Amino acid sequence: MTEQKTGVMRSAIDEARFGIRVARNHALTAETLEETLAFCREQAIDMLIARTPSQAIRFVQQLEALGFQLMDTLVYYRRDLTRTPIPEPQDAALIRPVRSGEEAAVRAIAAQAFQGYYGHYHADPRLDQAACDAAYVSWAERSCLDRSVADEVLVAELDGQLVGFATLRRNTSTQGECPLIGVVPSAQRRGIYRSFVVHAMQWCLENGMNETVVSTQITNLAVQKVWVRLGFEPMQFYYTFHKWFT
Ligand SMILES: CC(C)(COP(=O)(O)OP(=O)(O)OC[C@H]1O[C@@H](n2cnc3c(N)ncnc32)[C@H](O)[C@@H]1OP(=O)(O)O)[C@@H](O)C(=O)NCCC(=O)NCCS
Repeated sequence: MTEQKTGVMRSAIDEARFGIRVARNHALTAETLEETLAFCREQAIDMLIARTPSQAIRFVQQLEALGFQLMDTLVYYRRDLTRTPIPEPQDAALIRPVRSGEEAAVRAIAAQAFQGYYGHYHADPRLDQAACDAAYVSWAERSCLDRSVADEVLVAELDGQLVGFATLRRNTSTQGECPLIGVVPSAQRRGIYRSFVVHAMQWCLENGMNETVVSTQITNLAVQKVWVRLGFEPMQFYYTFHKWFT
């Protein structure tokens, strides 16, 4: 990938998945818009995925006028791990690090948990829906295999079967993130998601970080209820747009 000063870059993973030329800019601002569009023209990009902070409302209206289409709203919450104690996990399943050789099981969990999940890929009618499902499955698998994708992966074991996974990542020396969690439908509503978030907080603290960050689509109310109960607070919201050039 060649990243410009403006934050825009080609996305090899998206290009392979959808068979089109894709660019991403995860920090699009009014200042970087012109250079981002010029990059897309020079590279003959079919689709640009652009993310921008939700408070820049005049800029968002400018993007709408240029044909950028809203695909999702991402909400980020953070938990200060030092201000109040981490709640008890109350585990309904055994939560432990993934073992080598369990990648296929994690893939299978992701395929079940994220089937038809509504992120920015699924929201775009021009993208193949099966390829959109595959995006989460491949992210889960790469998290097990590639340390640049995730620093740790936890799994939930219930009656000898793996029924859930959670990926963990160190963002900075003080901040950890829990980017992706899935629980198979047959094991949902037993508190396994809540357990994963508590274990993620413990992992951050044990590894010298003092805050945990989580994010999801604004429509995912189930997980936001869990975060609020565990002491997370809203931090920053982003809009995700797709701009098609072809
Ligand atoms: C979201 C998800 C991880 C929740 O897993 P879970 O183990 O069932 O969650 P918990 O048992 O800890 O329940 C958390 C809360 O959400 C509620 N909840 C769980 N699934 C729900 C659903 N499909 N619809 C509405 N509420 C739901 C639970 O009832 C609980 O709330 P309550 O205490 O008021 O009853 C699981 O549904 C899933 O894998 N979904 C698809 C992927 C996803 O959304 N991942 C998170 C973002 S990366």
